[in-house]
Amino acid sequence: MIWKRKTRDEATDQAESGMDSIAPADVAPGVNREDFAPAGGELWRRTAAEPGPMLPRFMANASDDVETDVANELARRRLALRDALGASQPVIARESFAGRREAMAALINAVEEQRVHVVIYGERGIGKTSLAHVFAETAREARYLVIYGSCGTAANFSDMFRSVCARIPRIYHSSVLPNSLEAEKGDSFEVMLPEGPFGARELADVMAGVVGTRVLVILDEYDRVVDVNFRREVAELIKNLSDRAARVQLVITGVALNLDELIGYAPSIRRNITGLPMRPMNGAEVKELLRLGERAAEIRYDNAALAMITQMAGGSPYLVRLLGHQAGILAMNDDRSVVGDADARKAVEQVIAEWQASLPRRVQANLARDEARVHWGLLVAAARAGSSADGWFTVDDVYAEMGGTHSPLAIERDLKLFVNTVDLLERREGPGDPHFRFGYPGVASLLMMSAAMARLAA
Ligand SMILES: Nc1ncnc2c1ncn2[C@@H]1O[C@H](COP(=O)(O)OP(=O)(O)O)[C@@H](O)[C@H]1O
Ligand SMILES: [Mg+2]
Repeated sequence: MIWKRKTRDEATDQAESGMDSIAPADVAPGVNREDFAPAGGELWRRTAAEPGPMLPRFMANASDDVETDVANELARRRLALRDALGASQPVIARESFAGRREAMAALINAVEEQRVHVVIYGERGIGKTSLAHVFAETAREARYLVIYGSCGTAANFSDMFRSVCARIPRIYHSSVLPNSLEAEKGDSFEVMLPEGPFGARELADVMAGVVGTRVLVILDEYDRVVDVNFRREVAELIKNLSDRAARVQLVITGVALNLDELIGYAPSIRRNITGLPMRPMNGAEVKELLRLGERAAEIRYDNAALAMITQMAGGSPYLVRLLGHQAGILAMNDDRSVVGDADARKAVEQVIAEWQASLPRRVQANLARDEARVHWGLLVAAARAGSSADGWFTVDDVYAEMGGTHSPLAIERDLKLFVNTVDLLERREGPGDPHFRFGYPGVASLLMMSAAMARLAA
């Protein structure tokens, strides 16, 4: 066993040195590869044993039975870890949902006690969709009729709500008597809608008839909707439903969703809406999330690994899973059941490398430009400044993040450079100070993680 593992390490060493000999070609002369600024397109020195993300390997070894048993066992645990911590899907069941008790309590309170409509907002990967799903499960247990709809860029008000109505049985309409012909036909609210496009008012007329249950309509990924008319109609719908005390409530989720924009269309609905910001997960929640992986794969994250993952993930459940999964696999591949500091560190390096490689070429190229290298500190400060829920930040926010070491004028000038010359930031004009944000999702988190890694190495 031991000699076998050794051979693999040797192979790794070789692959690593092999990579070294290719990489410097695109590194500017005089730039140290250990620099954490994006030298030659690398945000973080690449430590993977292969030039790209690792090629697939067989999980089990075919040599003999005893070994196959051991290998199968390992394969099983690896799969279990992936199931527990895989980061590509939102959580839909309570068993795999960690923390978020306060958010859940606030959501339930808003819906049940205050009877208001709720807007859940926060950055991508923070757990909005997962919260919405687990909340839906909880509400169904309390006999709410919950209808989940994910908005796409092409969402259209009539189509969206026609399909919502198609899922509300007609027996819940006040005009339909139990045992009547209509009730027995098994129709839905859809048949009561006008044919063709309709607006909020006509929809509210139908929805105001709900009796015998309460309906919750979850509109996920609301920020993706392009059609301004959709948003205007939804604001109008909230107003109409509230005015008529209808037994229908909306739960809307979105990245960087601007509550004011929604309310802007109908200022009087402010008191009928509660905004629920999704906050970064705290240490205890991160621990709880990793425990899911520990139980599934029979491993343990030691305190140092836990601290590293907690710090690097910055409260994002998505990153906790990604790092926890990779670090766990590293330990298991090495026949250890305790995941340590080194595994966590290596996982961070892998994630940064893979993450960067997954950015569009244009974004990668922009990050690798001299301007980005020169103003690295500014970009990291900007990333931190924008890590609040909606991603937008001002010159003052960056000034504060930089500890007052640079003049606001210089900061503004340099930020503009990344709007105009290097396409990394967007700028929003409007009343008050200009606002900036990173144009491509994930870049800010990537910058923060690379910076945190650089600090650790220093
Ligand atoms: N409370 C949670 N417990 C465990 N995993 C979570 C939790 N919230 C989110 N995740 C995980 O984080 C990732 C992003 O979650 P998601 O709900 O899709 O975020 P959002 O909708 O805000 O983009 C998913 O992989 C999901 O499984
Ligand atoms: Mg989502």
